[in-house]
Amino acid sequence: MAKFVALAFLFVLFRFSAADGAIVEHTFHVQNMTITRLCETRVITSINGHLPGPKIEAHQGDTIVVHVINQSPYNISIHWHGMFQRLTPWADGPSMVTQCPIQPGNRYTYRYNVTEQVGTLWWHAHVSFLRATAYGALIVRPRHGVKGYPYEPKPHKEETILLGEWWNANVVDVEDEALNSGGAPNASDAYTINGKPGDLYNCSEDQTYRMKVESGKAYLLRIINAALNTEFFFKVASHNFTVVAVDAGYTEPYETDIIVIAPGQTVDALMIADADPGLYYLAAAPYESDNALPFTNITTRGIVEYISNSSASNYNELTPIMPVMPVSFDFDTTYRFYTNITGLVRSNSPAVPLDVDEHMFLVYGFGLTACSPSQTKCNATIGSIAASMNNVSFLFPTKMSLLDAFHRNEPDVYTEDFPDKPSTMFDFTNVTAVTNMFTTKGTKVKKLKYNSTVEVVLQNTAVIGSENHPLHLHGFNFFVLAQGLGNFNESSAEKSYNLVNPQVRNTIAVPAGGWAVIRFVANNPGVWIMHCHLDVHLPIGLAMAFKVENGPTPDDVIPPPPEDYPKC
Ligand code: C2O
Repeated sequence: MAKFVALAFLFVLFRFSAADGAIVEHTFHVQNMTITRLCETRVITSINGHLPGPKIEAHQGDTIVVHVINQSPYNISIHWHGMFQRLTPWADGPSMVTQCPIQPGNRYTYRYNVTEQVGTLWWHAHVSFLRATAYGALIVRPRHGVKGYPYEPKPHKEETILLGEWWNANVVDVEDEALNSGGAPNASDAYTINGKPGDLYNCSEDQTYRMKVESGKAYLLRIINAALNTEFFFKVASHNFTVVAVDAGYTEPYETDIIVIAPGQTVDALMIADADPGLYYLAAAPYESDNALPFTNITTRGIVEYISNSSASNYNELTPIMPVMPVSFDFDTTYRFYTNITGLVRSNSPAVPLDVDEHMFLVYGFGLTACSPSQTKCNATIGSIAASMNNVSFLFPTKMSLLDAFHRNEPDVYTEDFPDKPSTMFDFTNVTAVTNMFTTKGTKVKKLKYNSTVEVVLQNTAVIGSENHPLHLHGFNFFVLAQGLGNFNESSAEKSYNLVNPQVRNTIAVPAGGWAVIRFVANNPGVWIMHCHLDVHLPIGLAMAFKVENGPTPDDVIPPPPEDYPKC
């Protein structure tokens, strides 16, 4: 009997540890929603009729299952930004990279495990400009039984702050018009905090986000930049922050009164409510790295409100205090923030790999291509604006996704000759040095051996204009070894590599007119796009893809696609 009990106990224990996570299940109805912003009524593509869409909350070790049912008139796909998708590349989401989009009337279930990551991530549509209104937070908490967060003080509460961008137009039309003319799309009309523009915009007083705080308590702000094309400065009047994580990776605590955040990035910051009880604006203003470009220079703001326990005091007549925001071209503030963050090294954090198998020098920026016949409004004498990496402007396949083509061994969908370096070297960051602005188009991937260590120098060019580009890599986090201005120079740059506690990210805002060096281990078989997270630059080709081969054991091989995998 005792033996039986012991066996039963062991069985339960085994079951428990084999599947320690829960299933976190959601249904996303992609649907039209009528909404009023800036006094105009619009129909947008929403998830379940909410803007922002539903928040997904999980713990490490859980399995996330999201049934996406497309009841909208547009093709849709959803990307789980920052999730590694180890051995579930079919669930990554970028349209025509890992899947064909889900067509109107169809459905697809995304299923993946939450393994190594903890912190703030998010999800968004990954087809045309639809992520303008189809996005939400994806929060991962430490595994059950693991003691809290590695920082003090423990937050009393947390608040998710999704920064977004709003057009008084149908965003699919905005994109189509730009592609058709070969020019830039219209700038957005407003920036938003949790979907609300705030009181500096026309008739938006009642659309101002509010956060309530108790005096003396600590709050964890989970800030996500979900805007399409705009980097932000973020401040709360009379309050400081301690940054404790970026892109769901812990950082050394970093004290600052301002946060800079690019599209695709997240920042977790502690804020102590230690100001005099009252009302304070929490504000996000644009950082515009190329001041020749048109943009909306209006700050979106919400209100931090101290809860008062004496009924006598009522701040509602008070005017909230406004933080002083930097000017929109304040390069120094962005550079300081982006370069000063370091990673938090813990006993289980992966060390920076020192032996590099693949070195790439990736020169990227704008260029021109000849107008294509589909661009009916393109000016043939000027050409169409394009963007490229090593002079290849990325062309999405149309027949099947890259991942499907890899898995089925289908030729003619992509080629494996993405170049390791540019064909010509020039003075990249000198506008006058450019001789040829024309770029070629192609669907090229860089093939990587399973588990190889890859180092990529990301060199921004000044061709047509130099901008800060937030480059996002799917499927991996990377170490940011160094960043700098001007042209990358290996011998001097190498001395500045942080191999001890670099920041770990999935999206790096490479300085305008500068460079960054990243390193990652290709331990995840699949096809993973690396692209600019300014949506204005993705359809014109600012992307490339890595094809990571299967590994040696059956546990390192991509399984077949799910049965409901969308067809083109
Ligand atoms: Cu958040 Cu490929 O994107």
